[in-house]
Amino acid sequence: MSTLLHIDSSVRAANNQNTDHNSISKTIALQFVDIWKYNRPEDEYIYRDVGVNPPDFITQDWIGAVFTPDEKKTPAQKEILSLSDKLIAEVSAADIIVISSPMYNYGMPAQLKAWFDQIVRINKTFDFDLSRGDFPLQPLLSGKTLIIVTSCGEFGFEMGGIREGSGHLAPHLRTLSKYLGVDSMYEIVSEYQEFGDERHRASVANAIDRAEILASELAISPLAASSKKEVANV
Ligand SMILES: Cc1cc2nc3c(=O)[nH]c(=O)nc-3n(C[C@H](O)[C@H](O)[C@H](O)COP(=O)(O)O)c2cc1C
Repeated sequence: MSTLLHIDSSVRAANNQNTDHNSISKTIALQFVDIWKYNRPEDEYIYRDVGVNPPDFITQDWIGAVFTPDEKKTPAQKEILSLSDKLIAEVSAADIIVISSPMYNYGMPAQLKAWFDQIVRINKTFDFDLSRGDFPLQPLLSGKTLIIVTSCGEFGFEMGGIREGSGHLAPHLRTLSKYLGVDSMYEIVSEYQEFGDERHRASVANAIDRAEILASELAISPLAASSKKEVANV
């Protein structure tokens, strides 16, 4: 049995009365999750919609609590860190993590960044040692597989694409993934939403196909999809 952690971050719902308003990233992620659950009904499933229910932003008191040794933490400091503790526990428990994200202003939504800020925490998800020279931070978690599902209105943010320099969503998620303990990563991308043309329809259809295939392969064996990895060994 394994645990799937599913994080959505669009402020849009997956299902709206006007289907034109449905979140594309949530729809694609749900396709992956539905196939996973069908193949692995015994697995644990944890879901958070941080787009609709955003985690608190961290504060100066939060940082103070983080850097106070456990035995000296006050009840108030423990309370401040309780959400962070819970979110970190969910990540720690996960074997496979699905993060869906829209592109907002060329990066991730503030709500998803707030989730990462609660999770990337000293002595919980990384430790810090200056004896490591120029790279003192070291992740503490490992062994997880991450599926990133993104949707954007424009296109060409990939390496060599016409907007390569403006694409801060996937690169940021890749950088942060190591603090979630990610060893293997797959990316599913939908583009062209703002054009609403055939390119958009093809992009969504392709992303949904990819989500279905990837979920089927990974559900059977995490190694089964290794030949299709777009980004591995992060
Ligand atoms: C506030 C906001 C900012 C956006 N910024 C960008 C952007 O910088 N680049 C882009 O390609 N699309 C941008 N878009 C378009 C979204 O990425 C696109 O609509 C995407 O499908 C949203 O994800 P969702 O369908 O899961 O809600 C933006 C949309 C919104 C609402």
